[in-house]
Amino acid sequence: MARVEVAPHRFPALAQPPLLELRNVEKGFAGGSEPVLSQLSLCIPEGQFAAVVGCSGAGKTTLISLIAGLTKPDQGEILFAGNPLGPPGPDRAVVFQNYSLLPWLTVLENVTLAVRAAAPQLNRRSAKEHAQYFIDLVKLTAAINKRSRELSGGMRQRVALARALAMEPRLLLLDEPLSALDALTRATLQDELARIWGETKTTVIMVTNDIDEAILLADCVYPLTRGPRATLGQPIPVTLPRPRVRTRLSLVPEYQWVRREIVAFLEGLRDQGTREKEKDRQPTCNTAPQSLTPNLRPL
Ligand SMILES: Nc1ncnc2c1ncn2[C@@H]1O[C@H](COP(=O)(O)OP(=O)(O)OP(=O)(O)O)[C@@H](O)[C@H]1O
Ligand SMILES: [Mg+2]
Repeated sequence: MARVEVAPHRFPALAQPPLLELRNVEKGFAGGSEPVLSQLSLCIPEGQFAAVVGCSGAGKTTLISLIAGLTKPDQGEILFAGNPLGPPGPDRAVVFQNYSLLPWLTVLENVTLAVRAAAPQLNRRSAKEHAQYFIDLVKLTAAINKRSRELSGGMRQRVALARALAMEPRLLLLDEPLSALDALTRATLQDELARIWGETKTTVIMVTNDIDEAILLADCVYPLTRGPRATLGQPIPVTLPRPRVRTRLSLVPEYQWVRREIVAFLEGLRDQGTREKEKDRQPTCNTAPQSLTPNLRPL
């Protein structure tokens, strides 16, 4: 099958060294005929909200696992703050697709547990206060003593976010954190995520298959080709002013341009490189127009 060549990554000149750098990373799994990710390079400056957009099965979770240190690349290298990436630690917190909370613990207990793991020097009371601050931040104060099995999906996702934020990581990794939610809850949490990021300014890498979500939240979008041998295209900066209001966004020329660039990248590859594959594999990227995303915030 003919493959589409993606131009080599051109990194912008950075005033300071990147927080995270991936250099020509390749990753496959035993039994797979081809690597999932190949020749993948990425450069994330400190403080950036980065969104990696790719279709289902492209390798987004594989990429997040590599950055978290849960798996190692077969080739290439990953640098964190200029040093080879170490094992998983509290400097990189992950919010997974499926929340992964402890169902028998309350909201407060779930978050406090993470705080105590990340900052063992804190005594019980300080750890609780610290956890409470982040529970307030995600607006779960009223549910603080509920067990996570008693919470809705949206509430669980907030706990997962509070737990990750409470670890005060240098890098927050979000693996499609809102994908399991209904459209209304998803839109609310997108706005919350934007607000929280505005307050914390933690460096974030979010992977998503939702282009509008990426543009709404990110400073820069990194489009991921379809796998196998998925790699990243040129970064697409999003300089739209914040706070971004979803109803106004679709009217802004920059938004339309960024959206077109991403869709063209994802669909262009489909047209040129993987048409044969499409016969038995339907596209699963969310390239639907933004009007599908509900408008919760009045102008
Ligand atoms: N542990 C594993 N062992 C073997 N193959 C795997 C493993 N994890 C992922 N893969 C394969 O790697 C490819 C990419 O999977 P990955 O979960 O990274 O995709 P994704 O982009 O996160 O998809 P989704 O959007 O559906 O979550 C898939 O073909 C998957 O089958
Ligand atoms: Mg995934």
